[in-house]
Amino acid sequence: MIKTELGLGLAAIGRPEYLNIRTEADSNKSESFYHENAIKVMDYAYEQGIRHFDTAPSYGQGEAFLQEWFRQHPYKDLALSTKWGYTYVANWELGYKGPHEIKEHSLHKLIEQWSVSKCLLPALKVYQVHSATFESGILDNKEVLQKLFEIKKETGLKIGISTSGPNQGEVLEYASQIKINSESLFESFQVTYNILETSTHDLLKKLRKAGKIVIIKEALANGRLFRNGKYRHYENLYTYLERLSKKYKVSVDAIALRFIIDHLQPNIVLSGASNTSQLSENLKSREFKLEDQELASLVEYAVESNFYWKERSHMQWN
Ligand SMILES: NC(=O)c1ccc[n+]([C@@H]2O[C@H](COP(=O)([O-])OP(=O)(O)OC[C@H]3O[C@@H](n4cnc5c(N)ncnc54)[C@H](OP(=O)(O)O)[C@@H]3O)[C@@H](O)[C@H]2O)c1
Repeated sequence: MIKTELGLGLAAIGRPEYLNIRTEADSNKSESFYHENAIKVMDYAYEQGIRHFDTAPSYGQGEAFLQEWFRQHPYKDLALSTKWGYTYVANWELGYKGPHEIKEHSLHKLIEQWSVSKCLLPALKVYQVHSATFESGILDNKEVLQKLFEIKKETGLKIGISTSGPNQGEVLEYASQIKINSESLFESFQVTYNILETSTHDLLKKLRKAGKIVIIKEALANGRLFRNGKYRHYENLYTYLERLSKKYKVSVDAIALRFIIDHLQPNIVLSGASNTSQLSENLKSREFKLEDQELASLVEYAVESNFYWKERSHMQWN
């Protein structure tokens, strides 16, 4: 059995606005405040034993903060991952109208973003297609796949994909079968999985068994697992999570992360903490184990995948 590690995702700490349900806006949204916070969170994470950090060029300054932190702390035991395929366009503008990141899975974008991201070598271990879909054409783009294969051969990196949406399973199946020179191209899969959305469970188990890397993102359903009057249909789940939280003397986030560790046993579960106090709560998921009966009860709270993603699509960036 593999030991699941917690990693730190930098989506929330590299830019002033992100998909979430927070009710209180941060008092300070300046870039210098975010910079200081990001360095503090990364220092704290490392101190607490986190070795995997995940970022993307579209996380505002998320990748730049990681590059700077890594230059100052070239630890030998780091395992970083980044992505390519989205560009951050909100330019730190609060209340930016329109999408904050633009998708482009072209060869040109790959070459452009790789030229920056490769500065994370040798700590960079996984290079991912950001949100691979059938619609973007990436999974059938021979030039792009060939270039990724070359990067893999030149650097020894694992090439991966991240997925989102109700057809994550189909994308994972398809991508895991892509071969170049009789070799599987994709060896790492970053997938949304949490108490509400477990539709890829069996497939992820299969990928793990085949020796692939499974990284879990959005473990807290972007914050929807915390009690919230807006999501009354999760009332029973909230009550149950709060009961477990009392029993184990940890907060609800630690229960939700632990569910993934015990039920799926992926290689990595990403914490999406925005600051050191959230991270410290998230880290408590390492200190206990859920009972089989509790896991069986939590499994029952999964919702239908289409419903999950529709609800997510209504969440605001703030
Ligand atoms: N397409 C992709 O490839 C993709 C997409 C999404 C995420 N990811 C990766 O996965 C990582 C994690 O995902 P995520 O951050 O989107 O989702 P998440 O882990 O489901 O949610 C994280 C949010 O939960 C809240 N939170 C965490 N701990 C808390 C605590 N103790 N108390 C209160 N609130 C708490 C924070 O919200 P507030 O900030 O509002 O307080 C935080 O931003 C990202 O950083 C990124 O690396 C990748």
